Amino acid sequence: MKKIEIVEVGPRDGLQNEVQSLSVDQRLNFIDQLVAAGLRRIEVGAFVSPKWVPQMNQSFELIQELLNSKRKYPKDVRFSALVPNRKGMELAEKTSLKEIAVFGASSESFSQKNINCSMREGLERFQEVIKMARPTKIKVRGYLSVAFGCPYEGLVKESVVRKQIEKYLELGMYEISIGDTIGVATPKQVRSLLKKVSQDVGLKKVAMHFHDTRGTALANVLASLDLGVRVFDSSFGGLGGCPYAKGASGNLATEDLVYMLHGMGFETGVKLEKLIQISPGIENLIQHGLPSRVARAGLPL
Ligand code: HMG
Ligand code: MG
Repeated sequence: MKKIEIVEVGPRDGLQNEVQSLSVDQRLNFIDQLVAAGLRRIEVGAFVSPKWVPQMNQSFELIQELLNSKRKYPKDVRFSALVPNRKGMELAEKTSLKEIAVFGASSESFSQKNINCSMREGLERFQEVIKMARPTKIKVRGYLSVAFGCPYEGLVKESVVRKQIEKYLELGMYEISIGDTIGVATPKQVRSLLKKVSQDVGLKKVAMHFHDTRGTALANVLASLDLGVRVFDSSFGGLGGCPYAKGASGNLATEDLVYMLHGMGFETGVKLEKLIQISPGIENLIQHGLPSRVARAGLPL
C-alpha cells in the first residue's frame, strides 16, 4: 500500500483565523479527538506574539499540558508548533516538544506583513532558531508561504521559491512545506515548480500545503502526487487561513484529502468516519459551519 503522511494543521493554521478563540481545554479536547481519528502529525500551536495572533495565546500552557506524562498518546504521535524567532524558541525549549516549524515567505511584502522582517532577516532568525534546536535535537520544519502568489505582489517567480528552498535546506530544515497560502495555484503551476525543485534538490524533503480558496486544492494534490510528493498539510474541516494574507480562507480540508487518497488506494492511517464525527462539536465552538465537502455530504454507503 502506498503511504501518505498528513500534517494536520487545524489546531494552529485553522484556529488562528477564527473570530472565536478557543480555550486551552477546548483546544486540548480537539487535539485528542484528532489523535483518536488516527492523525499522527499535528501542529498544535504557535509561539508567536499574542498581539499578532491572539488565537494562539497560551500555546505554551497548551503544549505543557499536552506533553504531561499523565496524558497517553500512541508512540508515533508527533506534535509540533510554530516558532518565529529566538523568543519563541526559548519558550519551545522549556517544553519537551521534539519538533517545531519556522515560517518564511517567497515575497518581501508577505514576509514584512507576517513576521515584520525582510526575507533575508527571516533566514537569519531561522538560522538562530535552528542553532538553538541543535543541542536538544529538536527537528525543524520550514514553511515557505505564498509560493505561487502573494496577496500584495501577485504572481511569485519560481526562481525566488527555488532559491528559498535551497537556503532552507542549507540551514538544516528536515522538511519544507511549500504553501499556496492564498489558494491561487493551478496544477500547471504546481507541476512546473515541482519538476524544477525535483531537479534542484529532489522531493523527499518536500511537503505541499494547499488552500482551497478557489477550488483547486485537490487538483493540486493530484499533480503533486504524480510527481512523487508524499507529505501533505491539511486542516480539519477546512478551517482557517492566515490572518496576514487577505483572502487566505480555506485550508484544504483533511476529510476531503483523506477521502480522495483512500479512494485512490493510498494509506493515511486516518479513520475518516471518526474524523467526520468531530465536526458538530467544533462547529458549535466556532459558531459557524465548516467548509469540508466530505464532512457535509457524509460517507457514501
Ligand atoms: P515584532 O513586533 O517585530 O517583534 O513581531 P519584536 O521582537 O519587536 O517584539 C515586540 C513584542 O512582541 C515584544 O513584547 C516581544 O516580547 C514580543 P512587548 O515588549 O511589546 O510587550 N514578542 C513575542 N511574544 C511572544 N512570542 C514571541 C515573541 N516575539 C516577540 N515569539 C513577530 C515579530 C515574529 C513576533 C510577529 O511578527 C509575530 O508574532 N508574527 C506571527 C504571525 C503569525 O503567526 N502568522 C500566522 C502564521 S504563518 C501562516 O499562517 C502561513 C502558514 O500557515 C503557511 C500557509 O498557510 O501557506 C505557515
Ligand atoms: Mg495554511
